[in-house]
Formats: sequence, structure tokens, C-alpha cells
Amino acid sequence: MRNPIGKKVVDIKPSGIRKFFDIVQETEGAISLGVGEPDFDTPWHIRDEGIYSLEKGRTFYTSNSGLKELRQEISNYIKRTQNVEYDPLKEIFVTVGGSEAIDLALRAMVDAGDEVLIPQPSYVSYEPCAILADAVPVTIELKEENQFRLTAEEVLEKVTDKTKILVLPFPNNPTGAVMTKEDLEAIAKVVIEKDLFVISDEIYGELTYSGEHVSIVSIPGMKERTILINGFSKAYAMTGWRLGYACGPEIIMKQMIKIHQFAIMCAPTTSQYAAVEALRNGDDDVKMMREQYNQRRRYLLNEFERIGLTCFEPFGAFYVFPSIKKFGMSSDEFCTRLLKEEKLAVVPGTAFGDCGEGYIRISYAYSLDNLKAAMERLERFISKL
Ligand SMILES: Cc1ncc(COP(=O)(O)O)c(C=O)c1O
Repeated sequence: MRNPIGKKVVDIKPSGIRKFFDIVQETEGAISLGVGEPDFDTPWHIRDEGIYSLEKGRTFYTSNSGLKELRQEISNYIKRTQNVEYDPLKEIFVTVGGSEAIDLALRAMVDAGDEVLIPQPSYVSYEPCAILADAVPVTIELKEENQFRLTAEEVLEKVTDKTKILVLPFPNNPTGAVMTKEDLEAIAKVVIEKDLFVISDEIYGELTYSGEHVSIVSIPGMKERTILINGFSKAYAMTGWRLGYACGPEIIMKQMIKIHQFAIMCAPTTSQYAAVEALRNGDDDVKMMREQYNQRRRYLLNEFERIGLTCFEPFGAFYVFPSIKKFGMSSDEFCTRLLKEEKLAVVPGTAFGDCGEGYIRISYAYSLDNLKAAMERLERFISKL
């Protein structure tokens, strides 16, 4: 029998997060601070709306682009948070999580050999999706001395004649870094000058702890060049509902919807009804969860200082990214030993790109009690080194 598997797929490494957490499953008594998933239940009124839609028998496909009222709510939401207008009928469509939107944006926009700039450390899917789209991923190393923000100079350094897309992963997973308006203005200048497009993954846009999130689409000239990606997983604690969206120029949306139409048909109908409720009446829930995350974030930063772990202060998402360089171990070794010796699971920084070496990612999408127990273990571990 000849090889049934395509070479392109075989060559892609499996996610470093998943690989690590297979071990956690088998370790009894382990505490995990590894998963990037809210520990809150989806707020009840949102779940209730999903249930109601089922009771009403709304169990059919929606249009490929998603429910009109949901697209209208998404449009209203972006208008009220970023003061940018998207036509709900032509410039917005609903996807199966932000994940699908990332994949579709890349597939719709690149030709074989086009280069895609991917700042790292960052979320695990950009690089494989770029490769699957036959693009060439080009890494930009984010630096701790810049608080892991992306600078215009770093972009310029990597731009070639083949560069087509810049992925903008802020607020960032795994570092928690956020970009300021000034940072974005400088990036926008380069993007326009070099005739690039941006895929802006703003899935953590609602979870910022020092002022409101600024989207690059609010910078003049950038709405025309950007695919804005967001979703309901993180802000509304709706990971399992699998719902996200993409907003952008009609000419790009049309092609993305074409792939979505053939590969997916439409995002889950029940989830779409629930999401309308989330956007209409969910602001207070988001605020409550954000306050809790912020409390945990501050707790962890204080604890790190107390136990002697260096960490830059992150202002977004629900991750901290302390340095473990002073212990003279690789990230992988540190995490493997921490799990084995103290049954505490965190993620090696290298799961988010080679330049994550020397760091670990700790998620604070866990209760304060959990975090306290985890910090005891981390302190004990460090004191032995
Ligand atoms: C930065 C980032 N983007 C996108 C996603 C995908 O989220 P979803 O597909 O659940 O919307 C995640 C999930 O962890 C993420 O961290």
C-alpha cells in the first residue's frame, strides 16, 4: 500500500500543549495551570437562550454567514467598542470559533510561497495554518525588554517582496502582552507602506486590565487591510459552544465564506442564538469575570515577587509568562520536573515558538484556591533548585 498521508501534514508538529497534558491526565493529584480555558460556566441567561432556541425547534442550518441578528449585534458591538462600522451583511460572518476564522483568513488570502509574518511567542495555530495554506511562515521574535509588544522596526526587518500578511496576536497568548494605540499606529504605517494585510486575532480583546483594548481596525486606513477575528470562547466562557467571527473587506469575506460554505456550512445554530444574548446582555458578566481574572493576575505577580520568579507585568488575556532562565534549565526540563516532583502542570514557553525558551506559561483561568495551592508547590520546587 502506498503512503496514505500527505507530506505537508506529517511534517507539522503536534501542539506542544496537548502533548504535555497527556502526561497530566495520568498523574494522580496533579494541579494543572495549563489550559487556556475560562473556569467559569457560561452565564446562565446565555445558556438559557440556547436552551430556549432548542425548545422552539430552531435546529436547522442558518445561512452560511450566520444569523442576521447575530451579525447585526457583532456590528453594534464593534461600533460601540472601537467606533468602527462594519456592514453586517457584507463584512461580517460567523465561524466555528476564532480557530476557523484564522484558518480561513490564511487560506483565502495567500498563494503558494507568500510569506506570513508571525510574531512569537504566540498561539499555536498560526504557523500550521499558514503551512497548510502553502504559505511560508516567517517568525518575528517578541522580546521581553519590549514587554513582548511588537515594534514597527521588528516588522520592517522581516518584510520581503513576498510578505503578504502580518498576524497580530494581541492581547497575547501566552505572554499577556497588549499593544498601545501608539504601537499600532507605528505598525499600521509599515503595513500601509509595504502594502501588507493584517490578521488581527483579538480573541482576548475583552480581557485587558489597564484601559480598554484598542483594535488596529480603529487606526485610519487599516479597516481596509485587516481581518478582525474575535469570538465568544474567552470573554463569555463559551469555549465548547464553538463560536467566533471574522470581519473585514467584502472582497476577502466573500472568499472566506466560500471555503466556510464548503467545509463547514454554518456555525452551530444553538450557539448563534446564545451569542445574540451574550452580546445584548452579557456586558456585566464579562466585567465580573474580568475583575476576577485581574485579582488572580495580581495575586500571581505578588507571589512571583515573593518567591523570586522574574515576570514582566502582563495587562491582557489570562496568562503570565515568568522567566525561568536563572535556574539553568530548559523550559521543557523545568516543566517536566515540576510536574514529576510537585505534580504541578504549566506549559513550557517553547510550545509557543522557539523563542519561548527560558519561560513558562501559567494560566490564571483557575480559582484563587487552586492558584494558592499551586503557588505552594511552585515555591517548594524553586526552593530546592
Ligand atoms: C490567541 C488565540 N486565538 C484563538 C483561539 C481559538 O479560540 P476559539 O477557537 O475557541 O475561538 C485561542 C484559544 O486558545 C487563542 O488563545
